[in-house]
Amino acid sequence: MKPSSRYPISVSLLHWLLAIALIGNLVIGWLLDDREELLALHKSIGIAILVLALIRLANRLRVRNQLPPSVNKTGTATYFVESTAHCLLYVLMLAAPLLGWLKTNAAGHAASFFGLFSLPTLLSRSHELSNWLGKLHAMTAYGLAALIGLHVLGALAHRLLRGHNILPRILPLRQRPLSKVKHLPD
Ligand code: HEM
Ligand code: HEM
Repeated sequence: MKPSSRYPISVSLLHWLLAIALIGNLVIGWLLDDREELLALHKSIGIAILVLALIRLANRLRVRNQLPPSVNKTGTATYFVESTAHCLLYVLMLAAPLLGWLKTNAAGHAASFFGLFSLPTLLSRSHELSNWLGKLHAMTAYGLAALIGLHVLGALAHRLLRGHNILPRILPLRQRPLSKVKHLPD
């Protein structure tokens, strides 16, 4: 496989770190109804996700000229679906924790990270707003889960329908020196 057909190592590492954290926090979120003691853990992991997602976005912009070209041909419907899904995944991985933070503030609490520090309180207490933000937070989380499902199905479809194994493109297994990375035009 040519070096330029893989994502830079920083993109792959952040992809899998966030994949584990996001899927884990979705599961914890769904358990909250029966296991209220998990709420502090859920909020703390969510805050870590917010910070990591911001780092991921900044890194994605930093290495934008080193990304492998899409496996879908530019201008095709699959190319459009892929780019829209990736863009929406970024939007939702930021929106979900942000809304969780705001919901927590509106419920009258500070968003604490493992009791070590708290994020600034941006909203004052409001029962109605807290309900709304809770619903929006749940909606973004469900949207995220649905998109993750589609994203994995997309990778599977490439394998089964087109015979392309695209997984190695995002696996951080074989590192290569940066000098070998072919810089692609924007
Ligand atoms: C929380 C879960 C996930 C999110 C938010 C996510 C998001 C993304 C995003 C945004 C990209 C584009 C590269 C980038 O900008 O980082 C990407 C690439 C990719 N993801 Fe995921 N991903 C997730 C989980 C998974 C899982 C479980 C798989 C397993 C099949 C997977 C397989 C891939 C593959 C193969 C690519 C490379 C696509 C290509 O060939 O260009 N992802 N992912
Ligand atoms: C990407 C990160 C996050 C994901 C995927 C996520 C996901 C979820 C899910 C699935 C639920 C259950 C929703 C339902 O079925 O009603 C939930 C509830 C909740 N989450 Fe998050 N969450 C994230 C980040 C956060 C953060 C950062 C905070 C606060 C600092 C937070 C605070 C809450 C609270 C307070 C609830 C209970 C909501 C209610 O009772 O209406 N979440 N979350």
